[in-house]
Amino acid sequence: MAEEKSFKYVIIGGGVSAGYAAREFANQGVKPGELAIISREVVPPYERPALSKGYINLANKATLPGFYVCAGSGGERQFPQWYKDKGIELILDTEIVKADLAAKTLVSGTGQVFKYQTLIAATGSSVIRLSDFGVQGADAKNIFYLRELGDADHLAYAMEVKEKGKAVVVGGGYIGLELSAALKNNNLEVTMVYPEPWCMPRLFTAGIASFYEGYYANKGINIVKGTVAAGFSTNSAGEVTEVKLKDGRTLEADIVIVGVGARPIISLFKGQVEEEKGGLKTDAFFKTSVPNVYAIGDVATFPMKLYNEMRRVEHVDHARKSAEQAVKAIMAAEEGKSVPEYDYLPYFYSRAFDLSWQFYGDNVGETVLFGDNDPKSEKPKFGSYWIKEGKLIGAFLEGGTPEENTAIAKVARAQPSVESLDVLTKEGLSFANKI
Ligand code: FDA
Ligand code: NAD
Repeated sequence: MAEEKSFKYVIIGGGVSAGYAAREFANQGVKPGELAIISREVVPPYERPALSKGYINLANKATLPGFYVCAGSGGERQFPQWYKDKGIELILDTEIVKADLAAKTLVSGTGQVFKYQTLIAATGSSVIRLSDFGVQGADAKNIFYLRELGDADHLAYAMEVKEKGKAVVVGGGYIGLELSAALKNNNLEVTMVYPEPWCMPRLFTAGIASFYEGYYANKGINIVKGTVAAGFSTNSAGEVTEVKLKDGRTLEADIVIVGVGARPIISLFKGQVEEEKGGLKTDAFFKTSVPNVYAIGDVATFPMKLYNEMRRVEHVDHARKSAEQAVKAIMAAEEGKSVPEYDYLPYFYSRAFDLSWQFYGDNVGETVLFGDNDPKSEKPKFGSYWIKEGKLIGAFLEGGTPEENTAIAKVARAQPSVESLDVLTKEGLSFANKI
């Protein structure tokens, strides 16, 4: 059996938040040999959003090391050599299967034991599978999910093999919208299926969604709403041939891509760390209920100061910022100092085809829609505001310039009073530009 290894700091997980935490540790002067990142992935931390965008654009493929962290925020790309130079041990292809927080001990799938003084849980999320709901035939070949590099490689290969074939995308959320565009760009015939009356109901209003649905329809994507995949037919090789919908219809399929949500990976800590809203409960410094154990990124349920509520966020901006906050707090605490509380303004974005949107703030309350949201426009630019108790608290913009996106971020943070929804609708983007 391999010798036990001991570190001052250990990060479990080698995704976005781990990579940004490593950079912050380096900025804070971590000493060689003090920090280890243990990841079951076989590559160093990379910008996961690239997997559903450039990495599967077969005609113009983004490849590693192009999107190692911290490329996504305009930072230096952290090659394996970067970790070596900083004395940070990158332990890849290693899954932690047991965490004993009382004994400060981790055990890998091969029995390797790691000891730590301070632990950061950065295990991210795993996909929800149709087999979790017992959907018949859901394990057939050519049914894909997308979370890690290996998933994207399998999908890219299948897209090449099945070029001009039929693809069915199950789910109308982030993965559904981004992957449908990628499949279309790669010359497949695409049908999307989702249960709700419009796509991305987690964020979009009916008005926002009608633009994207119209745009996708104009691109030749077929949209089937109000039903779910109830089963799959296969050929003698076990490959998917057909999606059986709950409403009785069937769709031919050479490839199926499923994006029906994700759930945080917290099973290692069950019964040891306090949980809330499906994640590991933390304070404003990402410290959990267990001393010297922190949680960052998708797994953390933290106090969202702006809305005075505990929240979990499954987006990359928070993964980066929570990592920086936790490391700053850890290092400050060692010197008997503290850092300001995390004061996060939610920021989500997506890109597909020539489209690009950004959202800041909270999407509750009344809404107004402004601008040109005609899917046939040459350069559509439109947005929405969310207004709660007379204050603007959320802002969405499709097709904005960097300055306009900065303006909507500012307005969502400032939460100005709104006198009249009609006036706000008429003013549109100029309302944000004034702040
Ligand atoms: P992340 O998932 O990045 O990393 C977790 C790591 O932990 C992985 O390396 C995993 O293998 C490892 N791990 C888990 N359990 C382990 C164990 N027991 N032992 C060892 N290692 C373990 N967001 C956004 O704002 N804009 C966008 O465009 C996109 N696009 C996007 C595309 C795709 C395909 C996905 C899947 C997700 C996005 N996101 C996004 C979401 C964003 O990528 C996500 O919120 C962050 O990656 C979360 O960062 P974490 O570090 O928390 O998890
Ligand atoms: P999601 O929660 O965004 O969307 C899930 C969608 O699945 C729902 O909107 C619904 O339409 C659909 N659905 C649920 N049950 C279904 C069923 N039985 N049959 C058909 N459809 C069903 O989740 P996702 O799109 O799978 O994304 C997974 C994770 O990746 C999330 O954490 C997300 O935040 C992240 N992600 C983010 C981005 C981004 O921020 N741009 C991009 C890709 C992925």
